[in-house]
Parts: sequence; structure tokens; C-alpha cells
Amino acid sequence: MVVSGPRYLSNIVRSQDALHAAYGGVVPELAARAHLQTMVPVLERALETAGTRWEAIDAIAVTRGPGLIGCLLVGVNLAQAIGWARGLPVIGVSHLAGHLYAAQLEDPAIAPPALSLIVSGGHSDLIRWHPGGAIEVIGRTRDDAAGEAFDKGARILGLPFPGGPAIDRLAAGADPKAVRFPRPRAPGFDFSFSGVKTALLYDVRKRGDLSEQQRADLAASYQEAIVDALLTRVEAAYAAEPVPTIILGGGVARNRRLREAAQARLGGLARLVIPAPDLCTDNAAMIGAAALVEWERRGPDPAPFEADPSLGFS
Ligand code: KG4
Ligand code: ZN
Repeated sequence: MVVSGPRYLSNIVRSQDALHAAYGGVVPELAARAHLQTMVPVLERALETAGTRWEAIDAIAVTRGPGLIGCLLVGVNLAQAIGWARGLPVIGVSHLAGHLYAAQLEDPAIAPPALSLIVSGGHSDLIRWHPGGAIEVIGRTRDDAAGEAFDKGARILGLPFPGGPAIDRLAAGADPKAVRFPRPRAPGFDFSFSGVKTALLYDVRKRGDLSEQQRADLAASYQEAIVDALLTRVEAAYAAEPVPTIILGGGVARNRRLREAAQARLGGLARLVIPAPDLCTDNAAMIGAAALVEWERRGPDPAPFEADPSLGFS
């Protein structure tokens, strides 16, 4: 539950990681069904934790897209049903914009102009957040998203799903220079991770059985290549047009090496904002923060909307 500021009074996240781990990745039908089962209990807990009741709620925020259509439909339909039953406006927002506005939950004073890297399981977007609020995507991935690269790399290394946290854990204390994986090259500010993923696959095949130390060193080296590729693009975009603030967001921004390297490489250029780890992975508070921005922009009576699995930042 979010109040103006923005500030959150509760942020209940019901992770489905354990459910999908047995399959090595997200199974869309199971995801939608689990969403349906958990949504109402999660809403009740959010109100309870915030110490409030439905009567105090002014509007309902929901993710309109992008994402899996089954999950989006569950959320949008439930939000609209509650909105109709309670006479409340329903504000549909972009999940990607939510990852950007999560920074304001860290510090409400954060405002454009800013440069932001949003890295998740489905997106690697480099954006400029312009004064006035417009969001311009200046770089995107040509193939896999950064989170996807972590997840697929983990699978190649025989690590469990979700791969990002597994690589992050295994890489701690290992040698990131053990193997120099190719740094992805794509034109402009775009990203490409398929080359580094293939390089890891060939390396693992060539070695055959891996010792635990080798597996950890490969995880650290692979992570290093992804982190380096991401930060090199942010530095280039900053050099092309400096801004006072740089924001990292999305599930991959939980990565400890990325957070540490970003501090070292970007911290001296501008004010670097990386929200607390729980505000980086998909969460309810960031959707509430995005809805507050939309509410201010469009007024208290938002237009009707439908779920949109390929929605951009707005
Ligand atoms: O934003 P998010 O929670 O969901 C999507 O919008 O996709 O991001 C999930 C992605 C997954 O690919 C997951 O492996 C990755 O974020 N991730 C991490 C870490 N924690 C989550 N990647 C690297 N290091 C982590 N610690
Ligand atoms: Zn996300």
C-alpha cells in the first residue's frame, strides 16, 4: 500500500520461484493459476500490514503490462472488479515504469533528468527520463535480456532456477578473471547477450566435468562479463549527455556485483540511486508509486484500459 510521497506502508510479495523451480523456468499457466490463488490473501495482508481498511483506499493500482498475458488478465480483472464493487478508480500502469519509480520510494526527491538502466528477466532498457516526465528508451537488448542471460547461464552451469540469485551467490568469493568472456557488442546503446551465453556453453562443454571451484569461477567470470557490458553502456550514454542522477532498477539490480561495480564506476559521475533489493525485484510498492505519477498526470478518473503484454514504459 502506497501513500503520496511516495511512501509505502506495506509491500507484500508472494514469490512464485519455488513453484517454477521444479520446471527450470516460469510455466505461464501455473503462474496465472498461482496468481489467482494468492491475489486476494496478498491484498488482505497488505491492508493488515499497513494498518488500514478498504474504506481508507482512494484508488487501486495494477500492472497493465508488459508481462505474461494470463497473469496480467488475473490482475487487471480483479482490480477492475474491486474498483467497480467499491466505486474506486483503477489505475493501470507499466511494470517497467514501476521499476524506474521504485527509486522514488528510496528517496521521494528523485526527479528527472536522469539516466536509468532497467534490467529484468524480460528487459534490458537504457532510458533517459526527461524533465516533465517523458521516458525515452535509448538502448534495448537485441536478443536476451540481462536476467534471461543470468537464468540461461545458470542452467548451463547446472544451477537452480532462478539463475540470477544462484550465480550471484556462487560467484561471491570466486575469481571473476578466471575466464575472459567476450564483452557483448551491439550498435549504439543496445545490448546483446547471446554471444557471451554461447561462449559459456562452449567453455563448459570443453571442460566436461566441473569441479566446484571451476563452476564458481565460471559463474563469477560470466557475471563479470554481463555487469561490464551493462555498465559500459551506461557510461557511454552518460558521456554523450551527462545528467545529475543515474538510476538502476529491475530484478537484476539486486545483483551484488552489479551494485558494487556501479558504485565504483558511476558513483563519481552522478548521484547513483539503486533501490533496496526488495524494491528492485517485481513488487507491489513500485506499481503504487507508478500509479501516483499517473494519477497526477491524468487526474483521479483514469481512462478504462485492457491488459497489454507488450506495453512499453507508458
Ligand atoms: O524484475 P524482475 O523481478 O522480474 C521481471 O520483470 O522479469 O526480474 C527477474 C530477473 C530474473 O531473471 C532473475 O534471475 C534476476 O532478475 N535476478 C538476478 C538477481 N536477482 C534476481 N540477477 C542477477 N543477480 C541477482 N541477485
Ligand atoms: Zn520486473
